[in-house]
Amino acid sequence: MKGKRAPAKSARFFNAHQGTNSVKIFSNFIAMSKVKSAFFCQNCGHEAPKWLGKCPACSEWNTFVEEKIEKKVPQTVAFSSTASKSIPKTIQNISTDEGMRMALVDQELTRVLGGGLVLGSLILFGGEPGIGKSTLMLQLAIKNKNVKVLYVSGEESEQQIKIRADRVGIENDTCFILSETHLQQVFRHAEDIQPNILIIDSIQTLYSSDIESTPGSVSQVKECTAQLLRYAKTTNVPVFLIGHITKEGSLAGPKVLEHMVDCVLQFEGDRQHVYRLLRAVKNRFGSTNELGIYEMVGGGLREVIDPTDILIHHKDSALSGIALAATMEGMRPLMIEVQALVSTAAYGTPQRSSTGFDAKRLNMLLAVMEKRCGFKLAAKDVFLNITGGIKVVDPAMDLAVVAAVLSSNTDLSLDSKTALAAEVGLSGEIRPVSRVEQRIAEAQKLGFERIIISKYCKGIVPKNFSIKVIMCGKMEEVVKALFA
Ligand code: TYD
Ligand code: MG
Repeated sequence: MKGKRAPAKSARFFNAHQGTNSVKIFSNFIAMSKVKSAFFCQNCGHEAPKWLGKCPACSEWNTFVEEKIEKKVPQTVAFSSTASKSIPKTIQNISTDEGMRMALVDQELTRVLGGGLVLGSLILFGGEPGIGKSTLMLQLAIKNKNVKVLYVSGEESEQQIKIRADRVGIENDTCFILSETHLQQVFRHAEDIQPNILIIDSIQTLYSSDIESTPGSVSQVKECTAQLLRYAKTTNVPVFLIGHITKEGSLAGPKVLEHMVDCVLQFEGDRQHVYRLLRAVKNRFGSTNELGIYEMVGGGLREVIDPTDILIHHKDSALSGIALAATMEGMRPLMIEVQALVSTAAYGTPQRSSTGFDAKRLNMLLAVMEKRCGFKLAAKDVFLNITGGIKVVDPAMDLAVVAAVLSSNTDLSLDSKTALAAEVGLSGEIRPVSRVEQRIAEAQKLGFERIIISKYCKGIVPKNFSIKVIMCGKMEEVVKALFA
């Protein structure tokens, strides 16, 4: 009996003890349960209450990561709103003119943005590491005198930025540098300084104390962008967000970011080459066809005003395998040199390699040449290269690619004063491309003597041009025109 009672006593004691403990644990549990978490797809930003293997939104596998999303404080807007209260207006009464766009010193950036920086716009600027994003933004900050710019960097210290600014080499006393990663602090300083442009380098290093997850996580990036969007819209200050690029080449951080911002600019190019291309992937205030070209030199990024100069190499002697394409990038004509090398395949399977041109399209063109013109290319290695390390997506490149391959195959050089601009169809027909007049005019301006285009181009009167316009309908005619 005694032996039985003793454990009962201790059990009672234990229970009582556990009772207080369990109250504690319960209250701890309540405290903990306030920390809400959710799972986010790292690819597209889709939010789910539990972990999922496959994202229902973007169908990617294994992309869900848990993130804390607790909101600590009610959201306060850390900047004063200078814009008027929103009231519905009739569309005729909304003025769009005066002061909507800010002129920038950088002509390339101005053009890519659609003719200037729109006030209150939020711009995402992406690119691979080391491509020159920070340099371009810093140049924007110091080259535009009389424009107050706040450059916030979470990646570099003030000294590092100063060293970079010294390389670019321009004095400016309206460019403010802030090394900070806390968003609310950034707003506090922006409130003091009242900048005309705010630059954030980069959105992935920024964090808002309203949210608990780590900087760079999907929920943090989304939250910071949303707050910066509110800042841009209420204060009418344009905001640039530098963003990193993932391995796959898309902007890091979720796709939702691209939906939130007004413009998405992309900086691309080969790091081995000095040329950098600036494109607008999305632009709510202009076309997305424009292209800006820069050259990375010792003193920062230099605008390339006349790209033909850099894309066409002047040679003393004629070489085989080179053709010149009259292409268009947006509204801007570009003369591009296409180089091909055709050699006998050393191994059973011939190699096809292309830089700056779609490899599938090259294979298609080779097949068309084989089938329609009887060129035996099946046992040949074909290498194609677009000079300058740039990538052009323009169907008018087709004919120049065909001409370069033919020239290398026969080892006959083409006339260096001949430009080509046409698409090649599957049956070997030469098809028209857009803006032919502009291409002809550019070739004429640059001193070309002949240009080969499709005979199906409407409204082209060769007599109206001083350059000889040759219109071909089939590949055979092109061959005749090139080698006759
Ligand atoms: P950076 O702007 O730091 O690239 P990102 O911010 O996109 O990561 O550019 C760094 C590269 O640019 C670096 O490799 C050196 C080169 N560079 C020059 O060649 N000249 C210059 O004047 C500057 C400032 C940078
Ligand atoms: Mg950088």
